Formats: sequence, C-alpha cells, structure tokens
Amino acid sequence: MQGVLFDLDGVITDTARFHFKAWSRLAKEKLNVTLPASFESDLKGISRIDSMNRILKFAGMKNEYTAEEVNELAQTKNELYLNEISKLTQADILPGIENLLDELAANHVKLSVASASKNAPFILEKLGLKQQFDAIANPAKVKHGKPAPDIFIEAANQIHLTPQQCVGIEDAKAGVEAIKAAGAVAVGVGDANELHEADSVVGNTSELTYSVLKQAFEK
Ligand code: BG6
Ligand code: MG
Repeated sequence: MQGVLFDLDGVITDTARFHFKAWSRLAKEKLNVTLPASFESDLKGISRIDSMNRILKFAGMKNEYTAEEVNELAQTKNELYLNEISKLTQADILPGIENLLDELAANHVKLSVASASKNAPFILEKLGLKQQFDAIANPAKVKHGKPAPDIFIEAANQIHLTPQQCVGIEDAKAGVEAIKAAGAVAVGVGDANELHEADSVVGNTSELTYSVLKQAFEK
C-alpha cells in the first residue's frame, strides 16, 4: 500500500446533512417539492449537476429547464451549501481521521483526495487539514462522476501511483463502485450491506487505522 485515496464528504467530515439541507431548501423554494429523507443517502457521492438532475427527475420537471437554468439552480444550491459549511472547524473532523493521517504519513504512504466536491479545497482548509494531503484531485478535470472510476484514477495519478498501488476509502455505494472500477482496494465506512462491494467495511471512521487499511490491501 503506497497510497490512500480519500473520499471527503462522509469520510473526513460529515457534510451529507448540509448537502441535504441545501438541496431540500432549493427543492422547496424553487420547485415547490419536498424531498424524501432517503435523498440524503441517495445523493452521497453524486456530483452537483447529477444530483440536480436526479431531483428534477423526482419532481417530474426534467424537461422544463434548459441546461443553463439547471446550472443556475445547482449554483443556487451551492450558495446555500457554502453558507452551511462556512462554520466548519477542526472540531468537525470525523473521529480517528487525524490519527489515521498521522499514522499513514509516518509510514510514508502518500495521501490524495478523490472527492466529487468542487468545495473540497475550501472544506479541507476550514478543517485545517489541507497541508496533510499530497494532492487533491480536481473533479472539474474528470469526464465522468462516481460510480465511474475517473476521480480515483486522477487522484492516484496526482501522487504518481497506479490505483492498484492504493487503497480507496468511501462511505457511498457509488464511491465504492468507483474505487473498484479504478482497480484500487476499497474500504467502506458505514453499512456493510449497502457497501457489500467493498473489499473490507468498517462501521465508522474511528475504526480506520493504518493496520486495518494495510490488512485490506494485503488480503
Ligand atoms: C460529494 C457529495 O462528495 O460531492 C455529494 O457526497 C455532492 O453529495 C458532491 O453532491 C459534489 O459536491 P459539490 O460541493 O461540488 O457540490
Ligand atoms: Mg462520501
């Protein structure tokens, strides 16, 4: 294991509730629909524009907006989301993550971020973690969002490794699929049934240690 490719939302910090709050408000105010609670998990790992399109489909409004209008709606959601995450601090780092990053660095493992979020650099800055990573893959640079492998391949590239030399960590089903499609070893965080395609699953981030990742890699 020479590198670890980290998802951000749900692995490093818990932002799913802020995404869902912003999407819910947008859906209510602009589309006059109420999103079911299941959307919080359904949209995990899904890019901003793909999420917007799924919501429009749910609302039965997929054909009512031009591509430009869809972009504007997604932009409005992002403004609501940015307002929510402006208060993030180091205290919002999920349990075990700071320790894991230290352990990996001490073992000369390269660290790269493979998040679908265009806000990843801003969030890492807020959490005080930006300097800990060797690279942050830019989701604007890749063609296909998760579950396609693109962002994990790009994250490995950025640290001059192949996905086969890396472990990827994900909390979303679409993300685990993306890691596997890239050819890296997948460690899931969360529900073992939902993430059954992962090579190994832990219940929460406090169980993520260097030795757990190394064991998953060597299995
Ligand atoms: C993922 C989140 O990490 O990033 C998704 O799980 C989100 O919910 C996606 O839609 C894109 O994020 P952003 O910050 O670029 O809108
Ligand atoms: Mg995630």
